[in-house]
Amino acid sequence: MRVESSQELDIGVLPLVLDGERVMLVDQRHLPFKLEMFDATSLDDMCFAISDMVVRGAPSIGVAAAFGLACEAVRLSEQSIAKPEFLKQLDEARVRLQATRPTAVNLRWATDKLFQEIEQHGQDFPDLQTIAKKAMECAKRILDEHIETNRILSEFGAELVPRDAAIMTHCNAGSLAACGWGTALGVIRSAALRGLNPSVYVDETRPRNQGSKLTVWELHQDKIPATLVCDSMSGHLMADGKVQIVITGADRIAANGDSANKIGTYNLAVVANYHNVPFYIAAPISTIDPHIQSGKSIPIEERHGSEITSFGGTNTSMDGVKVYNPAFDVTPAKLIAGIITECGVLRPPYEESIAAALRQKK
Ligand code: MRU
Repeated sequence: MRVESSQELDIGVLPLVLDGERVMLVDQRHLPFKLEMFDATSLDDMCFAISDMVVRGAPSIGVAAAFGLACEAVRLSEQSIAKPEFLKQLDEARVRLQATRPTAVNLRWATDKLFQEIEQHGQDFPDLQTIAKKAMECAKRILDEHIETNRILSEFGAELVPRDAAIMTHCNAGSLAACGWGTALGVIRSAALRGLNPSVYVDETRPRNQGSKLTVWELHQDKIPATLVCDSMSGHLMADGKVQIVITGADRIAANGDSANKIGTYNLAVVANYHNVPFYIAAPISTIDPHIQSGKSIPIEERHGSEITSFGGTNTSMDGVKVYNPAFDVTPAKLIAGIITECGVLRPPYEESIAAALRQKK
């Protein structure tokens, strides 16, 4: 795992590493101050790690959950149980993992994919050890595919970035969030690699501060110029003509292109549209939920109020204040200039371009 600054841009810091039989997560709660690993090998620990945001970012959550399910397959294969019981318990583990965070659809995508492979191998192989081994291979494949997917979509995205552009981004859609290279930050990496000289305005992203903690850190490692701003400053910056393009990630994209992402993304898209600054989403096809027709049906996670009433362990409001803390919002498709995917940049009408991309991926 790379932690030092380097001149060349590599895939960035992976949120997950395998240490023999163990699955170790970079504890993103402590970055950029401490680089600590969290052992998430057991199902309980992986469920905790996802819900407490040791690992976060839609694609990374999906990959981590796939490893959580594979590790559970290994554990169960060492018990003396029959295959139907093995599959039943794994299915329960899948349901538990999927409930840890409700908005990011990649979690469901990755665990369903892994479970289907396990069921298939259950028919092909008699012993549980072989099935568990295949499950672990599948989780590794999902990880490798993410890195490749992110690189491809970033190349498409880099085509959209003007030379010397100031790019605004929200939350963290870098290697930490996307399991290698990044999505929104991946596009910026690729633009930098092409010599386009991008610089980045980074929203701090209250209440969890993924921007000020993680995005600034990742850009610093890649020596890409970054300026930290509060979430409320985008209007002022755009009115002054200081932002040429906005790129964010997504946690779930409906069939009509409405996109859920970190709370505050919608505000940013409205401000960008008012100022005629193009607003793009960068996300893999696995972030598209074809079962959901519009953003109205995307479940929005609500998190504990203490994320708002305190900052770094210090209270910032009165005791007992009423708090509303939705973790995500939905940007309507009509505010999105394009969705950057590994199948190319999807354009309106999104019902058609998304359906075509899903067909291409099959
Ligand atoms: O609550 P988080 O930190 O998991 O939210 C993450 C985001 O909203 C990201 O922008 C999104 O998952 C895209 S990550 C490539």
